[in-house]
Amino acid sequence: MGKKPHLLQIGSVTPRMLDRLNAEFVVHSLFDQKDRAGFLAAHGAGVHAIATDGHWGVPADAMAATPNLRVVSSYGVGYDGIDVDALVARGVIVAHTPDVLNDEVADTAVMLWMAVSRQMIVAHDWVVSGKWERDGAMPLTRSVRGRTVGIVGFGRIGQTIAKLVGAFDAKVLYHARSARDVAYEYCPDLVDMASRADVLVVITPGGPATRHLVSAAVIDALGPEGILINVARGSVVDEAAMVAALAEGRLGGAGLDVFDQEPIVPDALKSMPNVVLAPHIGSATVETRQAMGDLTCDNLSRFLADGSVLTPVPECRHLLD
Ligand code: 8YV
Repeated sequence: MGKKPHLLQIGSVTPRMLDRLNAEFVVHSLFDQKDRAGFLAAHGAGVHAIATDGHWGVPADAMAATPNLRVVSSYGVGYDGIDVDALVARGVIVAHTPDVLNDEVADTAVMLWMAVSRQMIVAHDWVVSGKWERDGAMPLTRSVRGRTVGIVGFGRIGQTIAKLVGAFDAKVLYHARSARDVAYEYCPDLVDMASRADVLVVITPGGPATRHLVSAAVIDALGPEGILINVARGSVVDEAAMVAALAEGRLGGAGLDVFDQEPIVPDALKSMPNVVLAPHIGSATVETRQAMGDLTCDNLSRFLADGSVLTPVPECRHLLD
């Protein structure tokens, strides 16, 4: 047992994950330490592996204190919160959890779209506030049938969303850095796509390359009848421009699972009837989080077995050749 390698756990994990980690590693949990610097000074040099997620990343103090780090396994598909370039430059393998959450995040996007378009929150309130008994029927809402859906980012989750909205007879447009070999229409110009779309679904990776990709101009092109759905990262949308457009009626509605400064959400959004808000729950079901946790641990097990991982981030694939 003395031969177990040491792992630094950056944030809290599920009991199931902790059991797996404890079986294979000596686990040092950073998140509940009062004397972080002292803890890292005592244990950092012995750490070979880190378990984290895309939000916690690998904080600078943990990065600096772990010169013998060899692998980072992240619980989540998005890794914009992890300094992958710095890790890869040090020869560290970085793994994430793609694919196992495609369906869940796609479902969340469609759920938000339907909730905005059919005003599900307003409808619920109509019942519980007594308006139904007092005022009678709720005003009519807008159908999601036969709409033009513009998808921003056409990776694995984007393509899953495209398939799902097919069930509502949607016409799918997509915007990505390059055209894919798919039957849907590619739109190289995002403003043009937004002007044609009834709903714009954002599901592109976060980070500097996509910061404010959904700009004021894109939001204006989507227009007063348009709906913006974001299940990617808050950074992809110019949040201030979006809030202003919603307040001024230049944008029809929004369904938002992600925000610029989570968990801080602009107050103005909280009282808009045409806005549906969620606390970053895209992948947050028991089933999908279990699959993500299992893959996070499987990547570490594989690393211990043969120095590779099952699902490396693309930036570190050359280290595995
Ligand atoms: C989770 C996510 O918020 O996978 C991602 O990129 O944003 C989510 O699934 C997160 O990774 C779990 O902590």
